[in-house]
Amino acid sequence: SKAWLRYARVAQANSTSSLPASIIALNTTKSSPVYTAGQELAKGIQGIFGKRLPISNGTAKTSSIIVGTAAAYEREFGNSSHFSDLKEDGFWLSIDVESVRIIGQNERGALYGAFEYLSHIAQGRLGGTSFISNPNSPIRWVNEWDNLDGTIERGYAGPSIFFKNGVVVDDLTRVAEYARLLASIKINGIIINNVNAKAELLNSTNIEGLARIADVMRPFGVQVGISLNFASPQSFGLKTFDPLDTSVISWWNNVTNQIYSRVPDMAGYLVKANSEGQPGPLTYNRTLADGANMFAKVAKPHGGIVMFRAFVYDNHLNESHWKDDRANAAVEFFKDLDGKFDDNVVVQIKYGAIDFQVREPVSPLFAHLPNSNTAIELQVTQEYLGQQAHLVYLAPMWKETLEFDMRVDSKPSKVQDIISGQRFKRPLGGSAAVVNVGTDTNWLGHHLALSNLYAYGRLAWNPSEDAKEILQDWISLTFSQDQKVIDTITKMSLLSWPAYENYTGNLGIQTLTDITGNHFGPNPRAMDNNGWGQWTRADSLSIGMDRTVSNGTGNAGQYPKEIAEMYENIETTPEDLLLWFHHVPYTQKLKSGKTVIQHFYDSHYAGAETAASFVPMWESLKGKLDEQRYNDVLFRQIYQAGHAVVWRDAINNFYHNLSSIEDEQKRVGRH
Ligand code: GCU
Repeated sequence: SKAWLRYARVAQANSTSSLPASIIALNTTKSSPVYTAGQELAKGIQGIFGKRLPISNGTAKTSSIIVGTAAAYEREFGNSSHFSDLKEDGFWLSIDVESVRIIGQNERGALYGAFEYLSHIAQGRLGGTSFISNPNSPIRWVNEWDNLDGTIERGYAGPSIFFKNGVVVDDLTRVAEYARLLASIKINGIIINNVNAKAELLNSTNIEGLARIADVMRPFGVQVGISLNFASPQSFGLKTFDPLDTSVISWWNNVTNQIYSRVPDMAGYLVKANSEGQPGPLTYNRTLADGANMFAKVAKPHGGIVMFRAFVYDNHLNESHWKDDRANAAVEFFKDLDGKFDDNVVVQIKYGAIDFQVREPVSPLFAHLPNSNTAIELQVTQEYLGQQAHLVYLAPMWKETLEFDMRVDSKPSKVQDIISGQRFKRPLGGSAAVVNVGTDTNWLGHHLALSNLYAYGRLAWNPSEDAKEILQDWISLTFSQDQKVIDTITKMSLLSWPAYENYTGNLGIQTLTDITGNHFGPNPRAMDNNGWGQWTRADSLSIGMDRTVSNGTGNAGQYPKEIAEMYENIETTPEDLLLWFHHVPYTQKLKSGKTVIQHFYDSHYAGAETAASFVPMWESLKGKLDEQRYNDVLFRQIYQAGHAVVWRDAINNFYHNLSSIEDEQKRVGRH
């Protein structure tokens, strides 16, 4: 449960001579993140150096670690030129032999600086340094899909740490521990309940519970928010939930005031409306913006934000219509609403055009909302990506999305600069990741899955960081600084996403899983002939979705001109998205000279082989890690190796049967 905050003794830190003599925290109020920072520094230094430093609020200037806000520091020690470039939540960290200065733009920033300092020394980086660190964007949230009964939608690490039997749990120890983890990766907000929300969350018992959760997370600078059920007023007795009805507005106003009177710093609301059967404004012929703005107006006086999800689509599409396309939905629903959202609304957009697949093009919606705030939605919980029974390190995939240049108006328009607000000069924006931690002591079910949570925080703060460097920091903090440990886990992790793609779905055909059920394990047949629109259109001769403008669903045309042209043309479409944008015969030749079907066969063998290789790689670390984590991970890697074979054979046999095309290497089918 310590995750990357182990503070294990560091070999280089055996002499304590280079350590300042005391810690000075410039705020002693217990709910203050600066107070937390002081405690954390003491704890970390004790672990890393084996020395207990006294914490004081005194004014001794030399030989001390001072942590506080810029304002508090200047009050005590006079003005400093170091802080002028600090942005909200940012910090200045200066490490000298006998003097460490950790100064935040605000209290949260000071805590982030303390964690940054500890991360440095925990990795044996004991030299001097001085730098400013500012976030790429103000919104760095996690979402938890916890239900009030304690189950978690798409959670793979046990029941909820927040709820049980319809109410907030009594013992919030794990919640506080989670807040600490989140603060250490600079996450500043959390939505604690499922996007498929229940009105009961808003009863008075649960508002009290929410206040208790906020109280334990506040010292870590993590602001709490909730998902709302759009029809809540009706559940509480009103005749309607029409967002323009005055009784509905005053109902929401009332509830919001009640919540803010208990949680004055509540982050805000998350809303899933008119999606997958959830209620929403369209029921009353109101627009999605009308719905979002109703919440925005009641939250605004309290400084609250409304994250409004763009995951709106019709799940009763008809595959016999060649032009029906779920990938078109977000742009169709939202493009005419640009500029109509209040300024405290943020449109939360899933990274891909459909739904958390192993490979998707970036959602075209990012290019359509220059007059709205936007945030990207990622998943740490591996819903379609192996559900933590498989090792899949996701940072390389997220980086591809964040760095993708949409070329809006033929100008540089990286997704990371759109969500930061920079590209379109928006005041708000950022990211949210669905994490779904549970009561499992290791939070996510698989020890190695924590690299994804860690990397999410690092990239939310600074998307320009390198996926491999982040990973190696995480390994060294979580396991050991032993070079072999670092090299081996790095190798496994960096091979893992390509391997998973290889043994599940290639060339942009999506994760070929049971999309109508639990999204785990191979089920290519389940993709088609249903209303969900995650189609492959595979028949005996051909496969893929024709999303061209010239002959298909027109989805390629939803991208800005340069990108649209790239996807429209089969020659310029990146091959890993070939079947996302084009419908081709199985015998279509790829650049490698292989046919599509042979590529399927070969990739599935290659992917399963890579997954199998993780087992001996992990075994080579025996003796270098504690038994418990060694054995836990080994168990999962053996499972993954076996399940990858199940995937390989299920997918290969399915397409072999469908196409009647032999595997050149005669591995597939009966021989
Ligand atoms: C996916 C997921 C659902 C979830 C939905 C959403 O479809 O399977 O469980 O509710 O996304 O993001 O709203």
